[in-house]
Amino acid sequence: MTSADVAVIGGSGFYSFLDDARSVPVETPYGEPSAPVTLGEVSGRRVAFLPRHGERHAFPPHLVNYRANLWALRSLGVRQVLAPCAVGGLRPDVAPGDVVVPDQLVDRTTGRAQSYVESGAVHVPFADPYCGRLAETAGRQPGIKTGGTMVVVQGPRFSTRAESQHYAAQGWSLINMTGHPEAVLARELQMCYLSIALVTDMDAGVESGEGVGQEEVFAMFARNVERLKVLLAALIGELPDPAGCTCATWADGLDLTYEVPGGR
Ligand code: ADE
Repeated sequence: MTSADVAVIGGSGFYSFLDDARSVPVETPYGEPSAPVTLGEVSGRRVAFLPRHGERHAFPPHLVNYRANLWALRSLGVRQVLAPCAVGGLRPDVAPGDVVVPDQLVDRTTGRAQSYVESGAVHVPFADPYCGRLAETAGRQPGIKTGGTMVVVQGPRFSTRAESQHYAAQGWSLINMTGHPEAVLARELQMCYLSIALVTDMDAGVESGEGVGQEEVFAMFARNVERLKVLLAALIGELPDPAGCTCATWADGLDLTYEVPGGR
């Protein structure tokens, strides 16, 4: 097996997913992805797994090669991407341990390469950054909440209390450091994409104590990673056919000025 239909991009502390996996190094025009991609089978689907931060967390959020990661997955045939990530909660309607599929994102990152478009007029529709069909399917799984806005900050530092309170006051419910540009790069490559956010902490503005720290985030993710894997396996078994999804068809008839690996 040298190709896959579905990908899982593992987050902090999520470094393996597949049993009997085969590892394939993939070259891209953007350099190497965070790690060799592993291929295996989950719930009857051919699945690729890529740890976002590298095998031993070599790449902090602002230095992940997002373009190489998404390109590598598409060049292996992937059409649907599930993207678990650690997030902070900003509002009392989410709590540590919750698994949430957001429906909107706000980009507060700076200086990240966030497009394959390097010439011409290609303006990518992104009003709904996540695949609606994947979100609907995830929403039917027990243990997954849906809805809410995830603000993506540059990191690697956590937010100040004032920043955190500001984000919460906008009505945004989740905060994270990796959700952008992953979602838009998947859209540019015509793949369905869904963030699957595990709430690891209540961010600085909500918390009365010291504010959020790395140990808390990593420990919470580690405690929940097995549960997340079970949720993902169930979700993969239920995924809809990606054919005809607007995530795949938005560029029909457009003159894309970049190549889509594996063809459009
Ligand atoms: N990832 C996990 N928790 C976070 C937080 N509070 N802020 C930004 N990214 C996070």
